[in-house]
Formats: sequence, structure tokens, C-alpha cells
Amino acid sequence: MRSLVSLFVTSLFASFLSSFSALDILTTHKLIKDGDKLVSARGTFELGFFSPGNSRNRYLGIWYVASPRTPIWVANREAPIRDGSGILRITEGGILNLINITGNIVWSSNAYATAEDAFAQLLESGNLVVRASNGRTTESYLWQSFDYPSDTYMPGMKIGKNLVTGLETFLTSWKSKDDPAPGKYSIHLDTHGWPQVVIRKGTTIVSRFGSWNGLELTGNPARSEASLVFQFTYSESEVYVGYQLRKSSELSMLSRDVLHPSGNMQRFVWINRIQNWALSSTSLSNQCQHYAWCGANAVCNSNNFPVCGCLTGFSPKSPKDWNNGNWFTGCERRTNLNCHDDGFLRYTGVKCNE
Ligand SMILES: *[C@@H]1O[C@H](CO)[C@@H](O)[C@H](O)[C@H]1NC(C)=O
Repeated sequence: MRSLVSLFVTSLFASFLSSFSALDILTTHKLIKDGDKLVSARGTFELGFFSPGNSRNRYLGIWYVASPRTPIWVANREAPIRDGSGILRITEGGILNLINITGNIVWSSNAYATAEDAFAQLLESGNLVVRASNGRTTESYLWQSFDYPSDTYMPGMKIGKNLVTGLETFLTSWKSKDDPAPGKYSIHLDTHGWPQVVIRKGTTIVSRFGSWNGLELTGNPARSEASLVFQFTYSESEVYVGYQLRKSSELSMLSRDVLHPSGNMQRFVWINRIQNWALSSTSLSNQCQHYAWCGANAVCNSNNFPVCGCLTGFSPKSPKDWNNGNWFTGCERRTNLNCHDDGFLRYTGVKCNE
């Protein structure tokens, strides 16, 4: 009798679960209109339409349910819908199309592969994926939003390049808090020389998170957070960097790393007690994070005061600038190079500017 009851309860629970989890799936039989949502399996993320800041434009995005006003991903960044007429649908072949009132496609996922009977699913990681109908459990997706980030890095994302397809995954800031169109700043895995994560303004490097030293990204302000596991992949087919949350912290921790319109990378952690985001670190909290901060022939060390110092045998090129805290003029040799007697001096634990 008891087993019958438990069987009944189990099947009830299973059917509850399956109807609940269906909320995370978009099939060809369904549409998402403005006001409709997809909800991830445990209810952490939603996908739907929103208006950022003071804008009245409508965008398709994904946000934490805890914090619906801060989307982690936006689809139609450059093609806002002016009214509430937007509709998201998926084709038989697995392409997501966002359509406006006149039936025009304003945004589309240009999937690299298509399949019959594909469906889209909003995962608990905040990743919107397209899967073939027989690929419910695999991690090979026809398309995933994590390959096309907006301004937000999420745990599990990979920043870098697929060397086979040439696809580069990088972040771009919003233009402003009211406009998610790509702004001036972007964050890339720079693969010239030893791969390092850099923030660029246009094509100019303005700051960096250092290179992978086998254990961590040197100079990454979040590297000492015990809840994060950093990952680096460098093979013939791909070069990527990213991090995951440790399994133990996965359920309790909500975090996002946002490239602000001002070019500052900010890491936020959700604090339940205050029901709000707290800033946990920023890319510009350390002067040495600024690219080439101390000028030529100098070393930046955030443990020193001032942070800039000349290499041994060098002195400030312009002592006046240097004394005023204007480091950009850098240092020059005290005596001319003498190739007969001079040798090399070893510096370790430093990164070079080009
Ligand atoms: C629908 O989208 C098309 C293409 O982007 C655009 O030309 C048209 O003005 C849009 N219609 C409305 C009503 O916004």
C-alpha cells in the first residue's frame, strides 16, 4: 500500500516537474509574445521582452528572476522593437526569429547547423540553447546565446576563439544604460603572444586581466574568490578562458560580470539579505590594470607606493612628470648601452607591454 502511494506521489511529482520544466522550452508549436516568458528549470532565469532604463523600446532578453531589471543577455541589441508587437518563434530547422508587427525579422540566430524538430531551451545557467529533438541531454547545441554575449559574462561562458570556425566570443558594453546597442568598449581574449584578456576601446587596449599562468589569470581582481574555478583551453581547435562556479556554491550564488558603458568591468554578487547586487570587484580598482600605466622601461607594482618604478639602471625620462604622478613618459637609461660589459638582469613575475 505504501509503495502504491509513493508511486502515485512520485508520478504526480514527475508530471508536475515535466509540466514545470516545459516552461523552459520553445518548440515550433509555441510563440513567445511580448508579456510571455520562458522560465529556466529551477526558476533562476527568465527570457522575455523588457525595456532598459528609461527607454520605451522593447528588447528580447534574459534576466535573473531575482533582478528582472538587469538583463544578462539581449538578442536584438541593434534592432529595438518600438511597440509590444514582438514575437519570438523557432523554425522547424532550429533558427530563432524575432518578428515585428509588419512580419519583418528584426533579429535571427544564424545557427551554424540546423536540424529537424529542433527546440530552444533556457538552461539554469542562463544560456539559451537550440537543440535537436534527439539531443535533449547532450551538450552539443545547434546554437547558444553564450556564444554571443552582450555586456555580461556568466559562469560557464567561454571568451576566446574557435580556431576551426573562426567564431570569436567576446563582450561589448552597452552604449548607455538605456541602450543595449554595442558601445565603445569590448573585452576579448587577445591571442597575440601569450593569450591575455584585454578590454579595448575601439581597437586600443585600455586594460587587461593578464595572461594565463597555468593556475589563474594573473591580475584578475576576482581570481582569489574561492567559489570560482578558472579554466583555460588552448588547443589546435580553440583557445578559451572562462570560469565556473564551484559545485558547492552553484545553488546559492548569483553573480554577473558586466562591462559597463564606461569600460569598467564590474563583478556583482547577489546578496539575499538586502535583495540587491553588491559590487565585489572592478577592473580599475588597481592602477596596474591600466594597460602600460607606467610608460616605457618601468614596472607597475600595486604593492608599492607609488606603484610605478624604473627598471634597474633606468631613471625617469622627465623627473617633473614623474614627480607629478604622470607616469606615461616612462624611464630611460642612465648610461649608454655598452655591449661589451653589460649583461642581462632577470625579472620574474612580470607581464610585458608590446
Ligand atoms: C519592422 O522591421 C523592419 C525591418 O527591421 C522595419 O523596416 C519596420 O519599420 C519595422 N516595423 C515596425 C512597425 O516597427
